[in-house]
Amino acid sequence: MPEFQTSPGMRDILAPESARWRAFVELFAGVAESAGYRQIMSPLLEDLGVFQRIGDATDIVTKEMYDFVDKGGRHVALRPELTASICRAYVQHRPATPWKVWSAGSQFRYERPQRGRYRQFDQVDIEVLGSNDPFVDVEIIALGWEFFRALGLRQVTLLVNSLGEPEDRARYVEALRVYFEANLGSLSPESATTLQKNALRVLDSKRPEDAALIASAPRIADFYSAEAAAFFESVQSGLTALGIPFRVDSSLVRGLDYYRHTTFEFQGGTLGSAQNALGGGGRYDGLVEALGGPATPGVGFALGLDRTLLACDDEGVFAAPSVDVDVFVVDTTGGLEALRITAELRAAGISSDRSFEQRSMKSQMKAADRSGAKFGVIIGTDELDASAVVVRPLRADDRSGTQSTIPRTDLISYLKKALS
Ligand code: HAM
Repeated sequence: MPEFQTSPGMRDILAPESARWRAFVELFAGVAESAGYRQIMSPLLEDLGVFQRIGDATDIVTKEMYDFVDKGGRHVALRPELTASICRAYVQHRPATPWKVWSAGSQFRYERPQRGRYRQFDQVDIEVLGSNDPFVDVEIIALGWEFFRALGLRQVTLLVNSLGEPEDRARYVEALRVYFEANLGSLSPESATTLQKNALRVLDSKRPEDAALIASAPRIADFYSAEAAAFFESVQSGLTALGIPFRVDSSLVRGLDYYRHTTFEFQGGTLGSAQNALGGGGRYDGLVEALGGPATPGVGFALGLDRTLLACDDEGVFAAPSVDVDVFVVDTTGGLEALRITAELRAAGISSDRSFEQRSMKSQMKAADRSGAKFGVIIGTDELDASAVVVRPLRADDRSGTQSTIPRTDLISYLKKALS
């Protein structure tokens, strides 16, 4: 056992999985940018206060923050999510609205690690600031849906809900509190503790002993103002118009405190219930103000990369792309020719690798096989003298093709044709 290993809940992502992660982000970027979203890259670390505005009844703020005092005495934290940073950036730069952005990167939450739940995990994220049109909610949900389709995932369910106007939500939370307190005896001890902080959070409980009580709890839909009901109607009619299947789930409150009006979640069909949320989001028409900006509506979502890729594994879709080179150069004349040839090939857009340390022909051919390259380019003293090279197919399916000796000057055009 080596002395040092990754910290719990943190992972090394090696090739070819790392190429898959990159492809995931590129695919998401393509979907977002085709709809006019532009990338924002915010710092990994912010003043703790930025994240405290997420809400003080949210676990990621109260229990899971990676915070510390830096050498200059600032109390800072590694970001647990992107939304608060993006709102902070909006207040700082005041871009024209609607400000449509996407982002991607690592987030940090001190959680109990398990499959699909890590302390460092990645998200891709979309946010729109400055518009309270319900069709913005529909646009972003549709982009999330399209992205899952593009990955090839089939078993994704979309759940939507509305938490109403802040006043509706406040009246609802009070009604919930009264209801759960009246039934305290049937509530799990954990949920009884949650109730002291935020009655809404109790609806998140996955404990079987709470299920019956939650099922007959008051419904948010009975507390909507006329405006909130109309807003939620518009969101649903937009989704229907686009043919996106969804289910209204009135217990969908999500783990963050800043939501108002629309909330939604994309659930995978293959992961355990505690980890089945592949992504989610909603409206947070108050976060920009909480961060010192003008009243600005906002809506967005984040998808967990780690978890979505697990769902891809389970459904056998979105495999890692090949990271093999096209050509492996075997040089038994000292290595200078391999240096020249690999440089020429790379300049011509043909990926290529080679051995170092003047290994034997046998050991270089082994390395060539291991590399996964389609062709070996072999140069020995005979070839060097004749200004020629040998090109040999390396893949089992190509081996029937015999090797050819060709003039050195024809190598690039020969390979381009063979690889096309
Ligand atoms: P969230 O629900 O906390 O929302 O996280 C979104 C997704 O990130 C989850 O559905 C999950 O896939 C992934 N995720 C969260 N925690 C972990 C973890 N410990 N390990 C692996 N994956 C995880 C937000 O973060 C909001 N900022 C979304 C949003 C954007 N709302 C409005 N705009």
